[in-house]
Amino acid sequence: MQNLIYAFIQVVHNFGAATVVGAAASALWLVRDNAAVQHRLALLAALAWALQAASGASFGITTFYYDGHLPDIHGIAIVALLVKIVCAIIGFTVALIYARSDSKWPASKLRFIWRALFALGVVALSSAAFLRWFS
Ligand code: HEM
Repeated sequence: MQNLIYAFIQVVHNFGAATVVGAAASALWLVRDNAAVQHRLALLAALAWALQAASGASFGITTFYYDGHLPDIHGIAIVALLVKIVCAIIGFTVALIYARSDSKWPASKLRFIWRALFALGVVALSSAAFLRWFS
């Protein structure tokens, strides 16, 4: 049962990871001149970043529920996890601010924000590999 729960959480977590990177990549390269679609992508990105934090925390909660302690990680794995948490907090906040204020901002500023959101996704996704293999 515990493994099944981990697998379901992982499904959500994997699609969330694909979405945070994919939404920013789409805004930068597929719909770069479509403000309405970019607005919706920002909302999607905010949702996906929140989902990443929630599903990521669910891994720990599940381990705590079944094993009575949090996952035993240290060193590089802790750093990688902290990097992902910071990326999720910043990514969620920035995507939400974008969706609230994009109509007032120039295209150059919006483009800079999408680049930052894309970079956050790449850093978080790369950190996931280190968390996976150093824990
Ligand atoms: C609060 C934020 C986050 C937390 C607490 C969190 C936590 C976790 C945990 C506990 C795992 C399982 C590690 C293992 O298998 O040993 C995991 C896996 C993973 N996370 Fe996160 N995560 C967070 C954010 C993110 C973000 C923002 C991304 C990508 C954009 C991401 C991508 C992944 C991927 C791809 C895996 C699977 C790695 C693999 O098994 O190869 N995570 N995460």
